Amino acid sequence: MNDQFLWGGALAAHQVEGAYDVDGKGLSIADVMTAGAHHVPRRITRGVMDGEYYPNHEGIDFYHRYKGDIDLFAEMGFCCLRTSIAWTRIYPNGDETKPNEKGLAFYDELFDYMLSKNIQPVITLSHFEMPYHLVEKYGGWRSRRMIDFFYRFAKTCIDRYKDKVSYWMTFNEINNQTLLENPLYAFTNSGILYKDGEDQLYIMYQAVHYQFVASAKIVAYAHALDCDLQMGCMVASLPYYPYSCHPDDILKAQKYNQHQLFFTDVFVRGHYPAHILKEWERRQYTFDVTNEDLSLIGKGCVDYIGFSYYLSSTVSADRTKETTGSGNAAGSDTVENPFLVTSDWGWTIDPKGLRYYLNDMYDRYEVPLFIVENGFGAIDQLTDGCIHDEHRISYLREHIMEMKKAVEEDGVDVIGYTVWGCIDPVSFTTGEMKKRYGMIYVDRDDEGNGSLQRIRKDSFYWYKEVIASNADKL
Ligand code: BG6
Repeated sequence: MNDQFLWGGALAAHQVEGAYDVDGKGLSIADVMTAGAHHVPRRITRGVMDGEYYPNHEGIDFYHRYKGDIDLFAEMGFCCLRTSIAWTRIYPNGDETKPNEKGLAFYDELFDYMLSKNIQPVITLSHFEMPYHLVEKYGGWRSRRMIDFFYRFAKTCIDRYKDKVSYWMTFNEINNQTLLENPLYAFTNSGILYKDGEDQLYIMYQAVHYQFVASAKIVAYAHALDCDLQMGCMVASLPYYPYSCHPDDILKAQKYNQHQLFFTDVFVRGHYPAHILKEWERRQYTFDVTNEDLSLIGKGCVDYIGFSYYLSSTVSADRTKETTGSGNAAGSDTVENPFLVTSDWGWTIDPKGLRYYLNDMYDRYEVPLFIVENGFGAIDQLTDGCIHDEHRISYLREHIMEMKKAVEEDGVDVIGYTVWGCIDPVSFTTGEMKKRYGMIYVDRDDEGNGSLQRIRKDSFYWYKEVIASNADKL
């Protein structure tokens, strides 16, 4: 691993900051999501309702405790911290023309503090967050007007923080919204609440198109402003394996992978791939896509691909096989992989899949790759004030080993690795605290009880050694 390699951790504003209505912050889409659990979906309420519990309202109170938390990250030797800017701190409703100075000042102080500890901020502009007002008034990314609202927010952030932040990403895991069977993703990616009988696939593609335009617009702006700014996209990597070597399984897996990769195709190559245009034609879809949009998309290509990696998936063309229920816009053909075990939340554990994905992406695009999320959500036991999280160490060790092979043996250009949820955040999919990712434990439970005290886990000391040795000691 080279000396410039960016070791660190990753968080998202809405999952840690709390302070949901402080210093002029507006209501965000994350603020209307109730707590769920494994197999119990989070509910989306129309505004904040009495008697409901919203775990993101308090998060882990990073808003007030960030200095202590960053001190701990510095103790581990982080070179960078990936987090996001809460859009609603800057533009509380999203359609106003003047930003909220208190929100801007918060991120100034946060980034200054990180930099004072030699931790560089890596920033996602929209991490599953947008003003709830934009959902109610405009239907979220159903509306073209979102391009301007996002652009105004993103431009405000880049103008303000360009001297403090070099690495930016536009939309977190933008490709999650292809998973139409889970309405949470349409809401968190695009602020869309589907109505009965709607053609969800059509609406999803239109929203995604507006996001591509918005992303390209801000990337082009940042490049014109300062050619040193590194502008990236962010996707959830979900490599699909064929269940068998039967050609039908191979073709099935290829189709699924194409559906995942069309996002990076557009971000990196600046145009839609042929298979998507064919699909639209076949479905007789016509979209609000202008020539100016397409030209913008061509001009706003990203410098690097940021991605999360947690698991792989397997698909089969054999319709008699039992599906595991998660698929993408192409349908649901996912089946159990007999060679992989899963976490308590049913996520496959597949370190070699990371090497496979890194190679695949680098072969395809030849741009730097940044692993901006990888981590293990698990139940941790607090025993005599300690957390012996060997399960997490083992997960991280194996993934880092595969990343090293991709870099050192295969020549893949990986610029950094940030452990997801380096301090226990609120889980995104379930809203739980007990699905813990951190190397730092936070004393808070699923009902919101606890002192919020921070405790170093065994993985804290382990990761510190990994960073200090540049992954020689694993
Ligand atoms: C990614 C998201 O999907 O995975 C994070 O970018 C999220 O926001 C992480 O927290 C892990 O998912 P979960 O549901 O286990 O918190």
